[in-house]
Amino acid sequence: MSSSQRQRRRVRRLALPAAMLLLVGGAVTIQSTAPAAAAETTLRAAAAKAGLFFGTASSPNRLYPILAQEFGQLTPENDMKPDRIATSSGGLQNTSGADQLVNHAQSNNMVVRGHTLVWHSQAGALQGASQSTLNTFIGNAINRWGSKIAYWDVVNESLEDNNTGRRRNQWPHTMNRDANGDGDYFDAGDTDVIRDSFIRAKQVVQAGGYSTKLCINDYDVEGLTVKGGGPNRKANALYDIVRTYRQYIDCVGFQSHFNDNPNSIISDDLQANIQRFADLGVEVHLSEVDIDDDLSNNDIGAGQAENYRKVVRACLNVAKCTGITVWGISDSESWRSSERGLLFTGGNGNYQKKSAYYAVLDELNKGRGTTTPPPTTTPPPTTPPPTTPPPTTPPPTTPPPTTPPPTTPPPTTPPPATGCTATVSLNSWTGGFVATVRVTAGSSPISGWNVQLTLPSGAAVTSVWNANRTGTSGSVQFSNVNYNGSVNAGQYTEFGFQGTGAASGLTPVCTAS
Ligand code: G3I
Repeated sequence: MSSSQRQRRRVRRLALPAAMLLLVGGAVTIQSTAPAAAAETTLRAAAAKAGLFFGTASSPNRLYPILAQEFGQLTPENDMKPDRIATSSGGLQNTSGADQLVNHAQSNNMVVRGHTLVWHSQAGALQGASQSTLNTFIGNAINRWGSKIAYWDVVNESLEDNNTGRRRNQWPHTMNRDANGDGDYFDAGDTDVIRDSFIRAKQVVQAGGYSTKLCINDYDVEGLTVKGGGPNRKANALYDIVRTYRQYIDCVGFQSHFNDNPNSIISDDLQANIQRFADLGVEVHLSEVDIDDDLSNNDIGAGQAENYRKVVRACLNVAKCTGITVWGISDSESWRSSERGLLFTGGNGNYQKKSAYYAVLDELNKGRGTTTPPPTTTPPPTTPPPTTPPPTTPPPTTPPPTTPPPTTPPPTTPPPATGCTATVSLNSWTGGFVATVRVTAGSSPISGWNVQLTLPSGAAVTSVWNANRTGTSGSVQFSNVNYNGSVNAGQYTEFGFQGTGAASGLTPVCTAS
């Protein structure tokens, strides 16, 4: 038996956590078989139990046992990039590294995130190619691995740096043509490398019958706001792209390279931003996480472990945040080794866990937050009846229905009284703000909520996530959406909105049902 065979066998023995990600017919299925109470001891198992993958980027020369033990997902760090595998006519070459990674993932039940098809950097022989050649490459690459690749980054880093909110202007975006000159690329008559690449990718996936999901991936798009509280225009531009081309786009990657760049910080509205993309119906991944731990300028404050906790929690609290990938295993092997941004020290397969590792494991073991729909088997509450009075809403003034009354008798016990409170935290800048509203259930669970607040004169809501809204200025009402109306006693859920003007001194009034 060769040493690599011995290694693979050892990996298989060690890599069977109680809860694992399975590939069933190419589709990703989360299977949990561990007793609910036991804390898992690997990132992979803890994440799988919470219903998401936890993965890393790797290369063929780093397929150490720890990879499959700790990680349930694998992204080729460089081996699927066009400069490695594309010919100038859109064919494939040098796929042995990528094949090796896919095979390793398959034999260890790991999900693969393909990275990446259309990118201005590391384009290799495709640099300057036409849309037609890009389409040829997209077809060849997707077809080579089919459903073995659960997620493909179709378009990577399409937006400009420095929070301009614009697309890059170098190839492949030079192929964009705003046919009617109205300043956007979203009209049917325009050519748009983003749209056209996704359309091609979708065609290939459908023709092949693959389960592969198609992602757009970028950095500095993580928060709703950037350092200082101004709007994250790059995130807003990405949001517009996903909203407009939603029919072709299945998933969004927030790269999550967090560092001291003002546009790369960990902002308090990370979760709200994940949520607004999730509300479009796409899966969200934190796809290339590393968090700067450069003590020489100690620039992201709370300490690396706490920062990791915060980032992982933001994902866990959004049901459609379905995966987290760290960009490498150990600091010394990271593309940004000087920032010490990862979860392990050491190298060459001999790795030591950092405190950030334990923070992530602990957070994953706590599972999803209250914004996840509760299981339908939740037992009835055993808490005593609440002391809050029943709602004082007057009876409806609409006439009684003409349909016959139900034959079931009315319940003999009154429904439990309910209550909730709401608090607002504001992130303001000159001319605008983001509000995060926390709705907390009282001593009984609630199954729906409504929050009323009065905006000061001159302030207006421009967008909302995680809630339905009535009104944009003056008195504005927010109510739960279908997945966050149920909140257990003492637990909370959050929604948010962005607005123009100033919004200090908000006093929310919460009514529960
Ligand atoms: O393999 C060659 C080696 O033979 C040669 O001796 C050496 C000399 O420079 O270079 C080696 O290749 C390097 C390659 O990484 C493998 O280590 C390239 O120079 C280097 O440019 C390349 O860097 C990669 C970088 O993308 C390129 O943009 C990083 O590993 C990779 O982590 C990084 O990943 C990107 C994501 O794809 C997209 N998001 C940002 C992220 C960081 O830039």
